[in-house]
Amino acid sequence: MSSLGVSEDSLPIVAALADLNSGADASQRIRSFVRRESRITHAQQRAFVELWSRFGIDTGAARLDLEQVFGRRGPLVLEIGFGDGESLAAMASADPQTDYLGIEVHRPGIGHLLLRAAELQLGNLRILCADAVEVLERQLPAACFDRIQIFFPDPWPKVRHHKRRLIQQPFIALLAHKMKPDGQLLIATDCVNYAHSILNLLNATPELRNMVDGGGFAPRPSQRLLTRFEQRGRRLGHRVWDLAFARRAE
Ligand SMILES: C[S@@+](CC[C@H](N)C(=O)[O-])C[C@H]1O[C@@H](n2cnc3c(N)ncnc32)[C@H](O)[C@@H]1O
Repeated sequence: MSSLGVSEDSLPIVAALADLNSGADASQRIRSFVRRESRITHAQQRAFVELWSRFGIDTGAARLDLEQVFGRRGPLVLEIGFGDGESLAAMASADPQTDYLGIEVHRPGIGHLLLRAAELQLGNLRILCADAVEVLERQLPAACFDRIQIFFPDPWPKVRHHKRRLIQQPFIALLAHKMKPDGQLLIATDCVNYAHSILNLLNATPELRNMVDGGGFAPRPSQRLLTRFEQRGRRLGHRVWDLAFARRAE
């Protein structure tokens, strides 16, 4: 363990993130989200009280033992920014042999997923309510995910807000570090310049290979179900760009 309280295998990544935030501590970091607490319903609030101990994982500095969390060692999928979690719940329900970990900061969405997880009696889903950057840095072990999925990260379309975009080079390095060899990274966005920025960044990441011959965008992956954000985009006639990368074996 280092003096930062992280294992040595995370140190290059921590250094890269420190570069991104130029020495900022966690409270000064430029976040990829703005917390909106206003519209949480009573049922969602109650779900935190009654269901968190069943599906939730508390955040902290300690590395998570995911085998202990799920009570088994199965294929493991991480979803970052699951929104209302409907598509994540459906995925977990249809694929009981795989364990699903969801990270989100929006409490109404988490409350919604807690209720759905209880309704579907999902034994293979766990939820973290925290900034995914911090959870990845502090709590998740290296090379543990078979798949990481980020569907419709906040686009932050104004140029002056691009610095808030989640998918930037140090974050990609962090994701790659947490993927198993040959593990997959699936991303979708309906924001054209974000799509091209992500494609360029991923193609330039030595640890990753584009699963598409020619290095372009991917066809819609079968695993990606319709999310609430995509549904809204469809009504507005938005196009979607998919990206599919794999962690190089060595
Ligand atoms: C545009 S929404 C898309 C939600 C969902 N994936 C969908 O397609 O309906 C992006 C989501 O990412 C979450 N988010 C943004 N930054 C995050 C972070 N650093 N850690 C965890 N969640 C984050 C937001 O709270 C929001 O719910």
